[in-house]
Formats: sequence, structure tokens, C-alpha cells
Amino acid sequence: MSFETNVSTRMARGESLYALELLPVVEQAAIESAKVMGSGDREEADQAATTAMRTAMDLCDINGRIVIGEGERDEAPMLFIGEQVGRPDSPHKVDIAVDPLEGTNLCATGANNAITVMAVAETGGLIHAPDIYMEKLVVPARAKGRVSLDAPVGDTVRTVAECLQLKVNEIVAIVLDRPRHEETIAELREAGARIKLIGDGDLSAAISAAVRGTGVHMVMGIGGAPEGVITAAAMKCLGGEILARFRPRNEDETARCIRMGVDPEKIYSTDELAPGENIVFLASGVTNGDLLRGVDLFGRGARVNSICMAYASNYIQFVDSIHMEDRTRAPMILR
Ligand code: FBP
Repeated sequence: MSFETNVSTRMARGESLYALELLPVVEQAAIESAKVMGSGDREEADQAATTAMRTAMDLCDINGRIVIGEGERDEAPMLFIGEQVGRPDSPHKVDIAVDPLEGTNLCATGANNAITVMAVAETGGLIHAPDIYMEKLVVPARAKGRVSLDAPVGDTVRTVAECLQLKVNEIVAIVLDRPRHEETIAELREAGARIKLIGDGDLSAAISAAVRGTGVHMVMGIGGAPEGVITAAAMKCLGGEILARFRPRNEDETARCIRMGVDPEKIYSTDELAPGENIVFLASGVTNGDLLRGVDLFGRGARVNSICMAYASNYIQFVDSIHMEDRTRAPMILR
């Protein structure tokens, strides 16, 4: 049975079990990285998440190929681009984009909004992006189709406010706290928007912007291109929008864009970054955040908060899981 048939069969049964079957991949990565939260060692945190994610993937009924991962084959020991994961005999051939730990510094310092992330699609369902910078604008569903990457910042803020039926000074825009964003920040201030400057994690910020009740309404600025593609997978499921342009910093990066078939001049839409029709998106909180709670370790197990989404079936579920290490004893929450 093809991946597509599998998904539609499950949809016909009114279920999205497929997405839930993949959930342990992000949950296990969250638990293992949370165990070293605050260690000050970002490499250790990333390695813990990557190893756990890679191990959990092989237990899933997928025949997967990493298209966005930890880097090229020669620079990453696992989850490198092109790596085959899962079970080679599985009929479910998929492309996979991962960020095993989005916000390695956030986890290493115990700061908010570190998450683990995986997006899955049918073959060709996610663009193959070079690991360079990307200029991004992310807005919620109600502002989709109304904003432009090249519009003045003030116009964008006013448009988003109008679409969300908010005053401009009620809008919260998230921007990575980097010198390259000085101008954007000044323009946001001038427009009257409120700003949340973040140290890292524009992917988790983007997901929050598309969900009501998080207190975040838009994300602007330049961040990683791989995070941009994964954001697009999330936006497909949430109905939000990312507009993005690759930002090569030198000739070598421009050549990499061309080699990988992406146009550095072009503004990409959500559907162009994530053209798949069978996209599944999963993320778990590592540290507390705007959208997800962080992992709660309670000695004999862990409690993990996740979001699980499937585009084809319009399915979004927040999941609160308890993973017990010792099955002979009841988890703490049961008293
Ligand atoms: P890591 O999780 O790899 O540490 O990346 C975090 C991140 O902040 C992304 O969210 C963002 O897109 C990118 O790094 C920004 O890059 P830079 O730190 O070079 O400004």
C-alpha cells in the first residue's frame, strides 16, 4: 500500500493514527535533551536529541529519506541529508525534515521555547534547502494572502492587525535578537507594534504565531533556511503563511542554491517550500514555551507535551503523554 493510500484509508476511518504513530520520535528526543537541560553544553544537548530521534525513527513503519537534517553526510554522524531511516521493507516511502533540537542554546541554558521537531511528507513534498540564511515573514491564517515580504514593515504590521481585528499596539512580533535586525526592530517600534526579541528559535516562534492564545502574532527577520522549510510544513497544517527568500552570503552559498535547484532571487510561498499533500508535522516541548510545556521529569518517568498535525485530514491534536520507565509502579500523577 502506498503512503498516499495509507493516509486516505486512515482518513476514511476518520483517524490520524499515522501521525500519532510517529509521535515517539519527537517525544523521545525531547525527554533525552531535557535530561541535560542547563548543562551549558549545546553539543551534548543536540547529541542527546539526535541520537534519541534516530533510534526512535527505526521503530516506525516508514521507509524514510532525510531531506533536511543535521547537515551533509561528512559533517553529521546521523540524520544527515540523504540518510535512509526507518525500515527498508516498509511500503511507506517518505521524505523527512528534522530539527532534533530547535534551540540548542535554549536547552543548554534552560531558557524557554526549546522544541524537538519532525515533518514528514510523500517523496518530493518538502523542498531541499541548503543550510544557509533565509529571510522570513510568518503570519497566522487570517492574514494569509494579505502580506508581502517586500512591503514596508509598518504596512505589514497594520495589515496583520487589521486581519486579526487587533490594534497595532496589541500586535506582538517576534524577531531574533541579532545586529542584522536593527532596522526591522526600529521599524516595528516606529509602527507601534510590541516586540519579543528572542535569543534563538524562530521555528517555534513561527508555530506559536499561527496558534491562537499564544500571545504571538507574527515573526519577521533572517534565520536558518532549514527551519524555514520546516516552518512551511507547520504552516500548511495550521493554515498560516510563510513567505521567504534564501539569503546567500557569498558566491559559494549562491552556487549551493543553484546546485540544489533553489532560486536565491525568488520569494517562496508556503506551498512552494512544502508542496506535499500528505504532510505530517510533530513537535514536543523540551523547555517551557509559548506553545508547549517543557518535559517534566519525575524520577520514574517523564511527561511530554506535543503538537501532532496531519495536513490531508485537517487534523491537529495537542498531546500530553506520560512515559514510564518502571511499569510496575503507577506514575506520580496518579498518586
Ligand atoms: P539551533 O537550534 O541549531 O541552535 O538554531 C537555532 C536558531 O536560532 C534558529 O531558530 C534560527 O533560524 C537560527 O538559529 C538563527 O541563526 P543565527 O544564530 O546564525 O542567527
